[in-house]
Amino acid sequence: KNSFPQRVAVIGTGYVGLGTAGLLAHIGYQVTGIDIDPAKIAQLQRGEVPIHEPGLEGLLAGQEERLTWTTSYEAITEADVIFICVGTPPGPDGTPNLNYVTSAAASLAPFLNGHAQIIVNKSTVPIGTGDYVQRLLEDHSPNFDETRHRVVSNPEFLREGTALSDSLYPDRLVMGGHPDAVDYLARLYAPLIEQTFVPPAGTPRPDSYTRPAVVRTTLQSAEMIKYAANAFLALKISFANEIGGLCERVGADIQEVSTGIGFDGRIGHRFLQAGLGWGGSCFGKDTQGLISAGREHSYAMPILQAAIDVNYRQRQLVIDKLIRHLKSLKGKRITVLGMAFKPNTDDLRDAPAHDLIARLTQLGAVVTAHDPVAMPRASREWAHLTYTAAADAATALVRADAVIIATEWDEYVQLNWSELVGTMRRPLIIDARNILRDALPAQVEQIGREAAHYQPEQ
Ligand code: UGA
Repeated sequence: KNSFPQRVAVIGTGYVGLGTAGLLAHIGYQVTGIDIDPAKIAQLQRGEVPIHEPGLEGLLAGQEERLTWTTSYEAITEADVIFICVGTPPGPDGTPNLNYVTSAAASLAPFLNGHAQIIVNKSTVPIGTGDYVQRLLEDHSPNFDETRHRVVSNPEFLREGTALSDSLYPDRLVMGGHPDAVDYLARLYAPLIEQTFVPPAGTPRPDSYTRPAVVRTTLQSAEMIKYAANAFLALKISFANEIGGLCERVGADIQEVSTGIGFDGRIGHRFLQAGLGWGGSCFGKDTQGLISAGREHSYAMPILQAAIDVNYRQRQLVIDKLIRHLKSLKGKRITVLGMAFKPNTDDLRDAPAHDLIARLTQLGAVVTAHDPVAMPRASREWAHLTYTAAADAATALVRADAVIIATEWDEYVQLNWSELVGTMRRPLIIDARNILRDALPAQVEQIGREAAHYQPEQ
């Protein structure tokens, strides 16, 4: 039966699961999305998408015939390929929590049957988890047969905010595991590898794009590739921030410096944007995850530790800048523009704005915050913080002593800054994402660049 995959089950309906399910349905497979959260499944059945991700709603909406949602694991019986896309949130010591992976594997195992079924792990998991999942399947499935049921690691490299085009037009597909199982998964991905699918409306194939590299590895290497890729990107950002700090002190401009070094093909321009550093659910967790893995083997990873330290120092440097200008923050009205950890998402995990708001209120400031999409989520998830949510960016600026741009939403670039600065009590902009550059009124402090035309108060 089935030398060619047809039916797919996707466990987990977060960014990775929803993207994977939508993509595979679009390519033409019969997909069942499974989640243990009945509220999320009910939402998806009604055609609502539980997260904010550009284009996702459109991609899922066209697929009713090929894409169904359920809380029951029974669909596993029919599936040729089963994707595990559940979260691995960091525990208190920074190591990823594998509870969801463990329970997904244990729950799917009883439904494995006699035909070849590949279990693909897309969640970011510590090296060795693939083998662990295989053992769980063995323990929980009466039908387990290691020649038919194989685990493949197929890490996901999509970014939030651009998840769809990242998964439709990836740089590479990494597949680690037994060669037969990898071949089978490669057959499932054939339309993606050959780029023979019709691009969905709203996510056209970029002109320069041809097709992804296919990287076949062992299970362990694939698992390591995911961590190493994220750690390297995190490193690049922290490197830019570390050099940026020195730039400021010696009168250089980090934006010019990044541009200059990025033209060296060995370095590249991407992920050298200095500013508030990284947030989100991945870079912090994955750098910590590697350090913890090292520790288990008594192996120190000083470069990664330094990247983490530099990253979180950036948040304090922004506060230091404010204090330099305003002396005391007590009673000062500070506006934070942008709460999500990056634009085009409402994800608040490890967002720099969180730490800024917390620190500002601790120092006695009165904080107003705004975000184009994340405010409803913030009112639930950041209920412990004290700030006033502003209806729009312009209102947020009225009578402010300073504004910090914490997320580089396009809408903030487009604001009529010269006019809005006039409504502030003091014209102080801390452009912590370096987005305003030249189209500026005259009082901007950037990160990694000497105060730009700042006019001290009289
Ligand atoms: C990251 C990786 O980029 C993805 O390849 C990976 O699949 C994903 O983690 C994951 O492991 O799931 P993501 O966290 O969604 O994706 O977002 P990024 O675009 O990588 O941004 C991360 C953070 O770095 C953001 O806070 C962003 O503002 C910051 N950043 C990014 C910089 O400060 N400077 C830069 O030059 C680039």
